[in-house]
Amino acid sequence: MDRTSEEFLEHSGQKSTGMSIKDRIKSSERLKKIAHFMLIPRNRYRPRWWVRALLNPFVHKKGKNAVFSRKARKDLFPFSPFELGANSLIEDFSVINNAIGPVIIGERTLIGISSVIIGPVTLGNDILIAQNVVISGQNHGYEDANLPISKQKDIVKHIKIEDEVWLGANVVVVAGVTIGKHAVVAAGSVVTKDVPAFSIVAGNPARIIRQYNPKTEDWDRIKKNDK
Ligand SMILES: CC(C)(COP(=O)(O)OP(=O)(O)OC[C@H]1O[C@@H](n2cnc3c(N)ncnc32)[C@H](O)[C@@H]1OP(=O)(O)O)[C@@H](O)C(=O)NCCC(=O)NCCS
Repeated sequence: MDRTSEEFLEHSGQKSTGMSIKDRIKSSERLKKIAHFMLIPRNRYRPRWWVRALLNPFVHKKGKNAVFSRKARKDLFPFSPFELGANSLIEDFSVINNAIGPVIIGERTLIGISSVIIGPVTLGNDILIAQNVVISGQNHGYEDANLPISKQKDIVKHIKIEDEVWLGANVVVVAGVTIGKHAVVAAGSVVTKDVPAFSIVAGNPARIIRQYNPKTEDWDRIKKNDK
């Protein structure tokens, strides 16, 4: 069985519908192959159209007035959760993938043009994600020097982005990071560590450049030597 089949079936154990059918499929190599073929075309990482059109709407949640652009890619599988909160918008050419972990998006959150979100990722409310942002809860294992990286185990770590965050254009957020409430990530930054609430980070790796001071109600500059 190829790596994709293993991946999808491994993760099909997540909260979803029809556990008993799933268990039966998982216990048989033949059924696994058939199920995989029915869900995903050969050599592809996206579900067949009928999965998106006929299965997903029954298991995924979409709030009132939420918009998932027709030109965005819905790489969404019914065995893993996906939620798009009320009044949120996923812009054209974005890709949302929940194969390896759930993607949960709160209310009034904007995912800008050409952004990519690979679960497990949780986004809060009132978040602004600019253009070309990549947020991926998935890393590839590389430790075995005798095995191609593409054949090694995925390392999956949840990314959490709290309410009111703004991610500038071309930001990358790596697996396992939490970005606190009302934080700003400057354009082009690579976020490799948690970002405190009410702070501004910039650069690669992203470092704090400003922090909100509730006493002065100002955003204090943080110089490199201050940290
Ligand atoms: C972060 C940002 C909001 C500016 O915040 P600011 O508080 O006004 O920051 P300042 O301009 O005072 O810059 C503070 C320091 O951070 C640096 N800095 C600002 N933006 C930076 C960036 N994107 N990458 C690296 N460093 C950056 C500045 O050079 C300055 O460094 P210095 O202390 O050595 O002089 C802005 O630079 C930014 O990145 N905006 C995102 C724009 C965008 O992506 N728009 C897409 C549409 S939503």
